[in-house]
Amino acid sequence: MKPVREPQINIFKKSNPYKAKVVSNVCLTPEPGKGNRPKKEGGSEIHRITLAVDHSVYPYVIGQSAGIIPPGEDPEKKAKGLADAAYTVRLYSIASPSYSFGMKEDNIEFIIKRDNVYDSEGNIQFKGVCSNYVCDLKAGDEVIMTGPSGKKFLLPNSDFSGDIMFLATGTGLAPFIGMSEELLEHNLIRFTGNITLVYGAPYSDELVMMDYLKNLEVKYKNFKLITAISREEKNPFDGGRMYISHRVRQLEAEVKRILTGGGRFYICGGPKGMEKGVIEEIQKIAGDASSYEDYKHHMEHSHQLFVETY
Ligand SMILES: Cc1cc2nc3c(=O)[nH]c(=O)nc-3n(C[C@H](O)[C@H](O)[C@H](O)COP(=O)(O)OP(=O)(O)OC[C@H]3O[C@@H](n4cnc5c(N)ncnc54)[C@H](O)[C@@H]3O)c2cc1C
Ligand SMILES: NC(=O)c1ccc[n+]([C@@H]2O[C@H](COP(=O)([O-])OP(=O)(O)OC[C@H]3O[C@@H](n4cnc5c(N)ncnc54)[C@H](OP(=O)(O)O)[C@@H]3O)[C@@H](O)[C@H]2O)c1
Repeated sequence: MKPVREPQINIFKKSNPYKAKVVSNVCLTPEPGKGNRPKKEGGSEIHRITLAVDHSVYPYVIGQSAGIIPPGEDPEKKAKGLADAAYTVRLYSIASPSYSFGMKEDNIEFIIKRDNVYDSEGNIQFKGVCSNYVCDLKAGDEVIMTGPSGKKFLLPNSDFSGDIMFLATGTGLAPFIGMSEELLEHNLIRFTGNITLVYGAPYSDELVMMDYLKNLEVKYKNFKLITAISREEKNPFDGGRMYISHRVRQLEAEVKRILTGGGRFYICGGPKGMEKGVIEEIQKIAGDASSYEDYKHHMEHSHQLFVETY
């Protein structure tokens, strides 16, 4: 068994970055225009990107993020005449477990979506700089990285018997791939609880890594996957879109077990602020009458709630 490490942060900065090589870049979603999403809603392209890293030099822990610096100069910075016109760092959640898939200690993975803005006809209006750069990478390309970053959105670092609920929207799934793999497959700590992964996306063919997740369900009795497909399913409460917060309401028994058994909730993804609806449902099930802010603070302070939304 490997020792559980403390997260190390900001070993690599913009001034002394880490250089990694692309191993593979796989698109996980249907070709633009070929999926369930109507053309007028634009595209939704999500990639799984694997880079080779030397863990002894870039020692990440699952739950941390890595920075990527897109090449080139930021036209806005250039127009302002800034001496350093390089693009700013973009953060991406690490999707591979702390010792890589297969405990090989030689790679790092990400789940990244092209972050574009579309007009009402579905044509690209604005393109995200770094997400498009990363989604276009080819095997062998060099990537400039910073980090690792973050020391709060982490798994327990000693034996854990509480239940865990992972709540993801869109690419917020990324850390929960690595966390599930680490808890179930790697035995870095003795984990004897149950995992419920609640995963929301707009269309069923935009839920990614489903073969991997369904396989975990078959392999492990203590792993359950629940999806919320917002634009294909209606919630039974007001007939509107099905969100992960509605699933939480339906999972009252699991939520109560987490609350009373020292378990944990992890929330990740976008849009920023989506955690509020989820936490409010948990608070209702808890029967807690304090303000939302006080309840969130109390849950975070007692290490039962971890939030990373962007
Ligand atoms: C902790 C953390 C973890 C994250 N993890 C992930 C992850 O795992 N996967 C993932 O995909 N993302 C993740 N993100 C988001 C990621 O960091 C980037 O924010 C995202 O990829 C967009 O960066 P970009 O450079 O592509 O877009 P930018 O170039 O920064 O643009 C941002 C947005 O503005 C739009 N835009 C550009 N120009 C204009 C304009 N003139 N007017 C209006 N809009 C415009 C772009 O289309 C885009 O939607 C994470 C963020 C954080 C903070
Ligand atoms: N991934 C990125 O690159 C990135 C980076 C930075 C910011 N963002 C922002 O994050 C948001 C979504 O990102 P994405 O494209 O990765 O995800 P996505 O694939 O669009 O999935 C997000 C899911 O969450 C649902 N949702 C919306 N509001 C919610 C709420 N209050 N509570 C629970 N679920 C909610 C969405 O439903 P509906 O949409 O059907 O209502 C959708 O099913 C966008 O606003 C995007 O601009 C994304």
